[in-house]
Formats: sequence, C-alpha cells, structure tokens
Amino acid sequence: MKIRLSLLALACALVVAPIQAQDKGAKEVETELGEKMDKMGAAFRALRRQAADSTKNADSLAKVATMREQAQASLKLEPIKKADLPAAEQAAFVTNYRAEMKKFVGMIESLDAAFKANKNEEAVKILGTMADAQKAGHKDFQKKKKKA
Ligand code: HEM
Repeated sequence: MKIRLSLLALACALVVAPIQAQDKGAKEVETELGEKMDKMGAAFRALRRQAADSTKNADSLAKVATMREQAQASLKLEPIKKADLPAAEQAAFVTNYRAEMKKFVGMIESLDAAFKANKNEEAVKILGTMADAQKAGHKDFQKKKKKA
C-alpha cells in the first residue's frame, strides 16, 4: 500500500513539475514599458467601469492623472519589438511608436477636460476611442506572444 502511494505521488510530481515550468515560461519577459502599461491598464479598466457616474469624477480625475503619468513615461521608452526588426527599420519604428503614444497622451488630455466639465457621456466616448488606440498600438508595436 505504502509503495503504491509513493508511486502515485511520484507519478503526480512527474506530471505537475513540467506544467509548473511551462507556466513560468508563459509569462513574457517583464519590461519597463510593460510595467508602465500594467499600471495604465489598471486605471483604464476602473475608468471604463465608472466613467458614466459623475459622482465619481474626482476619483476618475485621479485615475486619469495616473494614466497621464504612465503614458508620458512610456513616451521615453522603446518597445522591445524594436530588437527583432532589421537595423534599417528600427529608427522609423520608434518614431512611429512615439507619434502614436503622443496622440494617446492627447486623448488623455481630452478625457481630463471632459471629467472636469462633468461631461460624462463624452468621457465614455473618449474611452472607447482610447480602447481602439490601445488595440492599434498593440497590433503595431507590441511583440507577438509566443504560442505555448
Ligand atoms: C488604454 C490604453 C492601453 C492599455 C490599458 C495598455 C495596456 C498594456 C498592457 C497590460 C501591456 C502588457 C504589459 C506586460 O507585458 O506586462 C501592454 C504592452 C504594450 N503596449 Fe500597451 N496599453 C495601452 C495603450 C498602448 C498604446 C497606445 C501603445 C502604443 C502607441 C501601446 C504599446 C504597447 C507596447 C509596445 C507594449 C509591449 C511592451 C514592450 O514592448 O516592452 N499600448 N500594454
């Protein structure tokens, strides 16, 4: 009985260990830009939930400030995907990334103005445009995740 249990435990360990190793590998390398994006993402998700509610505008403005701070810091960084491109294409890639990120900072400013003017419907619309910019920005500048 004891031997059977030990064999069972061994078999479980053999199955579980590679799954754990795979899990660790699944999370892509953390980058400084990725960290800024994660912080921006948390504020953005909260804003999407509460933007229509004008009683939350003070908190929404604080979250907009977080997004502005992270987006401005992102302007100074370069996407990791740059390293995968031919040397001749790298400078243009970074210029394009910065131009799109600058446009995104402009959207954050419009969002700030909408909340300050208590124009919550407008804020909701701007957040929709920002979600589109997020999608496009990731399509063009984010390194594709490796398939597991
Ligand atoms: C609402 C707006 C946005 C949100 C919430 C957002 C969120 C995120 C998140 C959660 C990640 C993954 C971070 C990680 O790997 O830990 C990411 C990565 C990335 N995002 Fe965004 N993003 C937004 C807009 C944008 C825009 C507008 C651009 C480009 C103009 C952009 C460019 C990138 C790039 C290049 C990466 C990969 C990081 C790297 O290369 O180091 N994102 N973003």
